[in-house]
Amino acid sequence: MVLNKDGILYIKKKYGLPCYVFNEDEFVRNYLKFENCLKTRYANYKIALSYKTNYAPKICTIVKDMGGYAEVVSDMEYDIARKIGYSNDKIIYNGPYKGIAFDEHLLNGGILNADNLTEIDRIIDLANRNEKLLKVGIRVNISVGQKFISRFGIDEDSEDLKIAAKKLSSCKYTKLVGLHCHIGQARGIEAWKTRTLKMVEIADRFIDGVPEFIDLGSGMFGDVEDALLKQFACKVPSYEEYAEVTAKIFAEHYQEVDNDKKPILFTEPGTTLDNRYVKLIAEIDSIKQIKNKFFAVTNCSFHNLGDVCCSVKLPVEIIHGSATAAYYDNIDLVGYTCLERDVPYKDFSGKLGKGDFVVFGNVGGYSNVCKPPFILPQCAMIGIKEGETYLIKRRETTEDILSTYVIG
Ligand SMILES: Cc1ncc(COP(=O)(O)O)c(C=O)c1O
Repeated sequence: MVLNKDGILYIKKKYGLPCYVFNEDEFVRNYLKFENCLKTRYANYKIALSYKTNYAPKICTIVKDMGGYAEVVSDMEYDIARKIGYSNDKIIYNGPYKGIAFDEHLLNGGILNADNLTEIDRIIDLANRNEKLLKVGIRVNISVGQKFISRFGIDEDSEDLKIAAKKLSSCKYTKLVGLHCHIGQARGIEAWKTRTLKMVEIADRFIDGVPEFIDLGSGMFGDVEDALLKQFACKVPSYEEYAEVTAKIFAEHYQEVDNDKKPILFTEPGTTLDNRYVKLIAEIDSIKQIKNKFFAVTNCSFHNLGDVCCSVKLPVEIIHGSATAAYYDNIDLVGYTCLERDVPYKDFSGKLGKGDFVVFGNVGGYSNVCKPPFILPQCAMIGIKEGETYLIKRRETTEDILSTYVIG
């Protein structure tokens, strides 16, 4: 299966358009390349897939089969991880608002990072009621030069962090064994170096003995394609460069510790791993001119593609399905919704016609999981493995949308 005109006509007939296409072979190849870069420098490195970016069970299962952990931030994501067969010790429960699965997860040996003092009290209460040792982590809020104040975790410089550690060590049933952080908008290499150095230093100060894990979150660039590379202001590091300022620092910091006691180093890649390997195929439904501006109406919306299409120009490929294509300068490819801001691609220049197909690249993260039932239900998602297509999610119907409403 190749995404040329024949391939797309086949997908259109079998699954309908628009349609997400996940390239399993390339995803797996990239996953192993990424993991290998870190593992060769620090053997106790583990990937924990960030479910929020794409919790399609098929993708999560592929990661599970390759030995990856699940990183979840809600009971819903926790349920997905459990449903696909994860045991609690391979699930990391993070996030600022944890549901009732909190108790079940911890009591079954799950990994959990507390976001605030209320959660620290909840852990202690649970441990005391069950008279069971609960080992937990804390998400720390660290500064690595980012230009905003993050609301997540417990401030590295605060009394709260000391209080949290003290509370956990004062309770005979709780133990602080790990630390977690995640920093948005700081994907550059210097920020990552600072992040790692700070985290091992905070672990030295707050954790009694060698930590069981340190989780650096994510916020790395993936293997970015050329059409996007030139749109980023900072230099995009390679996986090797990231590995040098994470895994290598761990290897040096914990070199005196026996191999079987070294902390697990987690990162939680989401978009880093999945963005590049999902495309969305849409079709041009009509083209029109208003004053001196041309618009091509597609059968997808910015909701299918995710916020990313509003901040960068996604890689696009036009596959001509019509005989009537003409050249346009700065035509907007717009969505099917009635929102003026629904513009999946602004100012496209090239040949275009009604019936042409648009293949949007780099839409693996925050796309299918962010699509609301606004105006139209969600489209299908398929995978391609060794040239064959398979279904990941069928196209939604009006019945799916109405199934939670009371009719009449
Ligand atoms: C706690 C946490 N971990 C992991 C991720 C995924 O990061 P990325 O998509 O940059 O790999 C996020 C994204 O916001 C996050 O909040």
